[in-house]
Amino acid sequence: MFTFILVLHLIAVCCWLGGALYERCFIVAGFHREAGSEKEVPMLKLLLGSVPFFFTSVVTIIVTGIAMTIMGKYGFLQWSWIGLKQYIMLGIIILLATIIAPGMKRLKKRLKENIERGGGVDDLMRSQTNRLIVYLDIMHVGVLVNLILGVTKFF
Ligand code: HEM
Repeated sequence: MFTFILVLHLIAVCCWLGGALYERCFIVAGFHREAGSEKEVPMLKLLLGSVPFFFTSVVTIIVTGIAMTIMGKYGFLQWSWIGLKQYIMLGIIILLATIIAPGMKRLKKRLKENIERGGGVDDLMRSQTNRLIVYLDIMHVGVLVNLILGVTKFF
């Protein structure tokens, strides 16, 4: 059972990191490259549409992580490799709930309003998106650190 849950945990981690790499290398790069052109709107829509994908990965990682923590009697939020993983995940959840999700919601709403008026991405949206990308990067680095902690278990 533990091994099965671990496999699910690792599949979700692969999905997250694969998605993050795709987002960084293709969607974000495309959004910057297409600034001012008609392809800028689809690029931003792609970026904002990635939420359900990352949300599914986050939920799977948390549920399987908690299950394995209980099964392996590792304990919660202690000073160890697993405790640090849990603190980082907590930080990611807070970042997602307080900054990333509301920011994406605001951008979606503004994009919809602009499209209805016959416009597209404006300068304010570009700067908001760039700020959002920085927070997304911070979150992905946290996942990478968690991957290293999970594999090395070095303290
Ligand atoms: C994005 C965040 C996370 C990443 C990238 C990650 C990554 C990993 C990796 C690579 C392993 C495999 C370790 C190995 O067997 O070699 C692992 C195992 C594990 N993870 Fe995570 N993890 C994350 C979040 C969490 C969270 C939030 C928890 C707890 C709530 C957790 C609990 C565990 C447990 C208990 C194991 C099994 C350790 C064992 O082998 O006995 N993980 N994780």
